[in-house]
Amino acid sequence: MGRAKISIIGAGNVGATAAHWAAAKELGDITLVDIIEGRPQGIALDLAQAGPVEDFDCLVKGSNGYDETKGSDLVIITAGLPRKPGMSRDDLLKANFDIMKGVTEEVVKRSPDAILIIVANPLDAMAYTALKVSKFPKQRVVGMAGILDTARFRTFLGWEANLSVEEIQAMVLGGHGDTMVPIVSATTVSGIPITEFIARDRLEEIVQRTRMGGGEIVKTLGTSAYYAPAAAAVQMAEAILKDKRRVLPCAAYLEGEYGFSGIYLGVPIILGANGIEKVLEIPLSGEEKAALAKSAAAVEELIGLLPL
Ligand code: NAI
Ligand code: 2OP
Repeated sequence: MGRAKISIIGAGNVGATAAHWAAAKELGDITLVDIIEGRPQGIALDLAQAGPVEDFDCLVKGSNGYDETKGSDLVIITAGLPRKPGMSRDDLLKANFDIMKGVTEEVVKRSPDAILIIVANPLDAMAYTALKVSKFPKQRVVGMAGILDTARFRTFLGWEANLSVEEIQAMVLGGHGDTMVPIVSATTVSGIPITEFIARDRLEEIVQRTRMGGGEIVKTLGTSAYYAPAAAAVQMAEAILKDKRRVLPCAAYLEGEYGFSGIYLGVPIILGANGIEKVLEIPLSGEEKAALAKSAAAVEELIGLLPL
């Protein structure tokens, strides 16, 4: 089997960092595409030249067009405007809809069999846009958010419990917005309920910080996060390209699961060579179910605003 072909659309902070993680893991040959002349080419050259030092061996190319993306196995779409201080993810809706539509059309023309990982915000609405524009089966269009939101939750919990973040298993579901739903009932330290380690009121504060985790970085940094988002997108790419069948929280198109239809929502999925192999329906507490319904309603409202 030849090497996997990965295209990353948008060579900004998230795209360039995703290329970095993907190259370091030797997931395949990488093509970066951006509208800014010289940027994807320059990043590609620079990253390729890290190969001899870091011992990775993959071709990294940059382009302002799409012909180089032809026949991609996997395409990560980060093209879009990031959030600036004071801006909600939803403010981005219209601008990023136009970008996502145009990018998806160009991508699918040349890579009709690819799996698409969507990153641009507002995430759930952008994944929906990519699904409708591509006309791909729902298994092949998956959104990145839950792994990032869960990573934030795990980080804060690890700090609070003074334990390795690696020991914390958790799951943040729902839309990628302030209504996201950290599932405390499924949060453990190596299988031991988190409530054995952290008091309920502190847990509630950590849940709240997680919900605002993206905004916290925007406020501090002046633009949105990119190390953890890029790492999360590449974890998904790895699960797909290596057919790992990992259980990960990702945005999936729902048709009845959890009682929702016709929207993207963060849910646990099995991610493998065919993309979304299965949406897993896990037991939730009454409170969690209500929170998920509220989050789904927020996504539904946003999707309703799309000119599709
Ligand atoms: P950035 O501004 O650093 O990079 C975006 C890049 O997209 C720029 O280089 C821009 O030139 C390019 N671009 C714009 N229109 C394009 C087009 N039509 N074709 C190709 N490239 C185009 O932004 P950053 O920080 O990389 O974020 C990218 C997107 O990802 C934003 O919408 C941001 O909100 C979102 N994001 C989503 C996360 C998630 O959890 N799903 C986490 C972090 C960011
Ligand atoms: C984040 O959560 C802004 O969606 C981006 O960091």
